[in-house]
Amino acid sequence: MPSTKVLLVALAAAFHSFTSVLAAEDPQITPAPTPTTPERRQVAGASGTPILSTLHFQFTDLPFQVYPFAVLRGPQFGFNQCNSTTLGPESNCQTLIFNSPDDFCLWGSPEADGTIGNDEAKVVAYCTKPYHGTRLIPPGAITGMQWMTTPGYIQVTGFINNTGLSLDPTDEGGELDPHGADLQGNPLGGVVFSNGTTDSDGHTLTQVFNWNTFVGGGQFCFKACYNSITNPDYCLNIYDLIGCSYNMPSAVQDGEFTSCEGDVQDVVGVYTTNGVSESFLRLIVSSIIGC
Ligand SMILES: *[C@@H]1O[C@H](CO)[C@@H](O)[C@H](O)[C@H]1NC(C)=O
Ligand SMILES: *[C@@H]1O[C@H](CO)[C@@H](O)[C@H](O)[C@H]1NC(C)=O
Ligand SMILES: *[C@@H]1O[C@H](CO)[C@@H](O)[C@H](O)[C@H]1NC(C)=O
Repeated sequence: MPSTKVLLVALAAAFHSFTSVLAAEDPQITPAPTPTTPERRQVAGASGTPILSTLHFQFTDLPFQVYPFAVLRGPQFGFNQCNSTTLGPESNCQTLIFNSPDDFCLWGSPEADGTIGNDEAKVVAYCTKPYHGTRLIPPGAITGMQWMTTPGYIQVTGFINNTGLSLDPTDEGGELDPHGADLQGNPLGGVVFSNGTTDSDGHTLTQVFNWNTFVGGGQFCFKACYNSITNPDYCLNIYDLIGCSYNMPSAVQDGEFTSCEGDVQDVVGVYTTNGVSESFLRLIVSSIIGC
């Protein structure tokens, strides 16, 4: 199917208030962070404190926990060997499968009425299918979504009832990725596998080294970047306070389920208008990529 890409461009100057305009469109959006001197924190990488994103596994060789290390925020909350014996509503499986529009998982809270802010280190997998030893996303919880396969990554964006991921109905949610300020990841020890990326032969579950996601506020988006493409980094996350619509532009509509092939978006934070790249905050540009 041919892909379409429509660029809507509006100058920031046209808006009186940048943040209030965005906030009205997307409940996950809160004002962009003001740059300050970086806080100095201890990070993983010292002896015995592996950096989560550098831990690579075959699906069939996953240890019980990929991050059993009792350092910084560790050890991890759940486990990574997930199978029919671990399937069910109490599963603390932290291996997330991201295969296809009808077979994927999202991170959700391990306890009822949780919030991403409180539970980011210990979120667990909730899946659309009972194949992966996880909790299940209840039928009907997802009310619209767009699955898009591109030459650089697979992205899904959609609408979900917060309670389907055990999130408090009022939780506006947040961002999760395998890095985090201390490089132990959120969730700590969380790993992602897919048989749909270009790194897979189409059947074998293959690790997705770099991914990012937002959940909460009745919305979700998840991007699985191909391991073979590291420059540009389409899963770069530095704008984690500003939600799906900025980080993963799409044409998703509540009530519609679509799947398509699309173009890669501009690197997050860089938007192209009239062939000229502009950095974030100089222009408000939405790159709406439809199916
Ligand atoms: C299934 O998962 C459990 C818990 O993670 C693990 O102890 C067990 O070895 C696994 N079983 C198989 C057959 O892989
Ligand atoms: C979300 O799901 C819960 C539990 O099924 C239900 O009570 C609630 O009405 C749903 N909320 C919306 C906005 O549909
Ligand atoms: C991808 O994995 C899922 C579940 O693990 C399986 O049902 C599906 O058949 C696999 N797809 C292919 C093309 O092998």
